[in-house]
Amino acid sequence: MTIIVTGGAGFIGSNFIFHMLEAHPGYRIVCIDKLTYAGNLSTLARVMCDTNFRFVRADICDRKAIYKLFEEEHPNIVVNFAAESHVDRSIENPEVFLQTNILGTQVLMDACRKYGIDRYHQVSTDEVYGDLPLDRPDLMFTEETPIHTSSPYSASKAAADLLVLAYHRTFGLPITISRCSNNYGPYHFPEKLIPLMIANALNDKKLPVYGEGLNVRDWLYVADHCKAIDLIIHKGKVGEIYNIGGHNEMRNIDIVKLICKNLDKPESLITYVTDRKGHDMRYAIDPTKIHDELGWLPETKFADGIKLTIDWYLDNRDWWETIISGEYRNYYERMYGELQ
Ligand code: NAD
Ligand code: DAU
Repeated sequence: MTIIVTGGAGFIGSNFIFHMLEAHPGYRIVCIDKLTYAGNLSTLARVMCDTNFRFVRADICDRKAIYKLFEEEHPNIVVNFAAESHVDRSIENPEVFLQTNILGTQVLMDACRKYGIDRYHQVSTDEVYGDLPLDRPDLMFTEETPIHTSSPYSASKAAADLLVLAYHRTFGLPITISRCSNNYGPYHFPEKLIPLMIANALNDKKLPVYGEGLNVRDWLYVADHCKAIDLIIHKGKVGEIYNIGGHNEMRNIDIVKLICKNLDKPESLITYVTDRKGHDMRYAIDPTKIHDELGWLPETKFADGIKLTIDWYLDNRDWWETIISGEYRNYYERMYGELQ
């Protein structure tokens, strides 16, 4: 069994590679990653010498490189994590989101059609459903919820999902799609809420909360997401979409306060800043389908997951300090000004 994992030098892709190498010792895992600002080869250091693992630096939009790799590896399964993933960057510069997230998906599926594949799995997001109001806690996203996107990021992911469904219906490509809620855990790039707040708090820097901090996200520990994808590619039904979520809705401000408490830092570091444009209010996933059909349930309670995550950032300062001292500083200054 050979599995191509795209975007494996990023947050979720790397965690998925670690999970797969451990859970399926006989499998060959081939990682394709362009190593954009969000990809980090040091993340994969511990598997680089594994004989069941190969890393290839390539852009999923590069048809020639992708076809060559398929000719060399004859993959059974492709799991596509590669994407531009940060909403704020999509507001700043949408174009690369359309290129990678839509056209890159097309190139991968064309390769699957040309060389044959048992399964193409698209890693999508709950953001394709848009958002829910705060005053209707009874509402949740199901797989039937209409697509209703808010940001260039979510629009590009929704476009990719539609293309994946079209390749299934038109060409019979054996696909599955998963739409997951917000992940957290080790190797999360420090531009995202939880790692940004941990890194800033550890450096006694201000903690920039957008708007009033009342937006709600449904947080899932990354290892639980990886296990769900493992189940879908082995047991999921071809042509189906599966929602994945933690049943763990939390307001941003409560997350930030919890991080302050865990790190023994004062809440006075919290600074309310200009809201994100088009900011989605609330996400909430109904994961009934994946539970009933595949027996998946989130295993990590948020109280445990956030402790594991904070401990990981404390134990791996080199990893994130290298990132925040590089090109990321320019992004931070553009986004947050002189906030210290
Ligand atoms: P990430 O930004 O941490 O990693 C993305 C990886 O893709 C990086 O290693 C980057 O170098 C690589 N990449 C980007 N463009 C590429 C290209 N053109 N060719 C090859 N590689 C390229 O992202 P993440 O948070 O790990 O998200 C992974 C996937 O999961 C994305 O598709 C995202 O939409 C989806 N997702 C993320 C979350 C979340 O909470 N982070 C939740 C649901 C779904
Ligand atoms: O829901 C799944 C999505 O979750 C994924 O598809 C995306 O790839 C992933 O980035 C994430 O998107 P969000 O926009 O929800 O995540 P982010 O960490 O950027 O922000 C979480 C919330 O925190 C959001 O309401 C905005 C807010 N926020 C974020 C940052 C970076 C702040 O208040 N301050 C900040 O500095």
